[in-house]
Amino acid sequence: MKADIADKEYLKSLTLLYVEDERDTRDMFAMFLRRLVGVLIVATNGAEGLDAYRRQTPDIVITDINMPVMDGLTMVREIRALDTGTQVPIFILTAHEEVDYLKSSIHLGTLEYLVKPVDTRVLIESLLRCARHLHDRQIVREYQKQLVTLNEKLEKLVAEEVGKNREKDIMLLQQDKLASLGHLAAGVAHEINNPLGFIMSNLGTLKGYVENIEQYTSLLQRLIARDSTQETQHLSGEASQKLDIEYILKDIRDLISESTEGAERVKQIVIDLKDFARSDGDYLKETDLNQCVQSTINVVRNEIKYVADLVLHLDEIPKIICNPQQINQVIANLLVNAAHAITGRGTITVTTLHENDHVRLIVTDTGCGILPENITHIFAPFFTTKEVGQGTGLGLSISNNIINRHGGTIGVASEIDKGTTFTVTLPVNGRREVSA
Ligand SMILES: Nc1ncnc2c1ncn2[C@@H]1O[C@H](COP(=O)(O)OP(=O)(O)OP(=O)(O)O)[C@@H](O)[C@H]1O
Ligand SMILES: [Mg+2]
Repeated sequence: MKADIADKEYLKSLTLLYVEDERDTRDMFAMFLRRLVGVLIVATNGAEGLDAYRRQTPDIVITDINMPVMDGLTMVREIRALDTGTQVPIFILTAHEEVDYLKSSIHLGTLEYLVKPVDTRVLIESLLRCARHLHDRQIVREYQKQLVTLNEKLEKLVAEEVGKNREKDIMLLQQDKLASLGHLAAGVAHEINNPLGFIMSNLGTLKGYVENIEQYTSLLQRLIARDSTQETQHLSGEASQKLDIEYILKDIRDLISESTEGAERVKQIVIDLKDFARSDGDYLKETDLNQCVQSTINVVRNEIKYVADLVLHLDEIPKIICNPQQINQVIANLLVNAAHAITGRGTITVTTLHENDHVRLIVTDTGCGILPENITHIFAPFFTTKEVGQGTGLGLSISNNIINRHGGTIGVASEIDKGTTFTVTLPVNGRREVSA
C-alpha cells in the first residue's frame, strides 16, 4: 500500500506524451491522465507526437495506432531509433486487436497493449507499475552515477599515491646516489690525501734545500769575486750566464710556491667534495652558508666556468641551523640550472645576506629566462624543458622540498632573454625537526 502511494507520488513527477487522433477519446483520456501525471503533452497524430517527443523527451508515451499523417507504430519505430539508450516505456491504446499489430508492437518493445474501451483502473495499475519500474531505474542510475564518481575519485587517489611513491622512490634514489658519491668522495679523498701529503711535505723540504743552495751560491759568487783570478772569475761568470743560474734560482722559488699553491687547492677540493656529499647525511648543525656556497662552487665549477663568470657578494651572515649536505644540494641545483640557461657567455651572481632572523641566498643569471606559462610548473616534480636525458625535472622539486622542510622558501623572478633570479630564504635558527 505504501509502495502504491509512493508510486502515485512518483507518477506525479513524470511527463507523459499522449497521442490520439479521435477527439472525444483524446479529451476524455487527457482529462483523466492530467490528474495522474506531472506534465501531459497531447498530440493528435504520430507526426505531431514525434515532434513533441523530439522537443521534450517524455518519461512515458501512450499512443493510438491508426491515425492520419503518421500511424502510432511508425511513430514508435522512429522513437526507438531516436532513443536507443533510454527505451522509454510505451503503451499502445487502441481499438484494434489484430494479431499483426500486437506482434509489431511487441517487436518494438512496447510495455502494454491495451484495447479500448479500457477500464481506467487497469490503466492506472499499468501506469503505477510503469512508475515503479522508472523509479527503480532512476535509483539504479543514481547509484551508477555515484559509482562512477567514486571510481573517478579512487582512480585520482591511486594516481596521486603512485605519483607520490614515484617521487619518493626517485628522491631515495637521489639520496642513494648522493650517499654513494659520499663514499666515493671519501675513498678518493683517502687515496689522494696520502700522495698529496708527501707532495706537500717534499715541496716544503725542497723550499728549504733551495734556500740553502741560494745561500751557498751567493757565498761562492762573493768568494770568487774577492779571491780568484780574473780567468776563474770570467769562466764562472760565463758558465753562470750560459746555464741561466740566476734565473733558475729565482724561478725555482716561483715553481715551488706555485706547486704548493696547486697542492693546497687540490687539498681544498678534496675537503669540499667530502663536505658536499657526506654520507652521514641526516643531521642538523650550525652551518656557514657562505662556506656551503664556496665548497659547492668548487664541486660544480666545471659546469659553470665555460659559460659564465661567477660574481660573489657574500655578506657577513650568522651561521644557520641546517643540514649542510642538503643545502649544498640546493645550491648546486640552482647553479647548474643557471649555467644551463646561459647560451654563449653570461654571468651568474651569488649573493648572501642577513635580514632579521633570516638569511637569503640569491642566485641570478643572465640566461634565457622562464616562459610565463612555465613558471608555475618549475617546482613540480618531473617538469623539465630540457631534452630527454638532459634533465629529470627533479632538481627544483627536491630543492623546494628541502627548503620547505627547513622552514624556508624559494622564490623566483624571471624575464625572457634577460635572466632569472632564485631567492632562497632560510631561518637562522632552523627548524629543529628537519631530518634527511
Ligand atoms: N635559471 C633558470 N633559467 C631558466 N629556466 C630555468 C632555470 N632554472 C630552472 N629552469 C626551468 O625549470 C625547469 C625545471 O628545473 P629543474 O631543476 O627542476 O629540472 P631540470 O634542470 O630540467 O632537470 P634536473 O632534474 O636535471 O635538475 C628546467 O627544465 C627549466 O626549464
Ligand atoms: Mg635542474
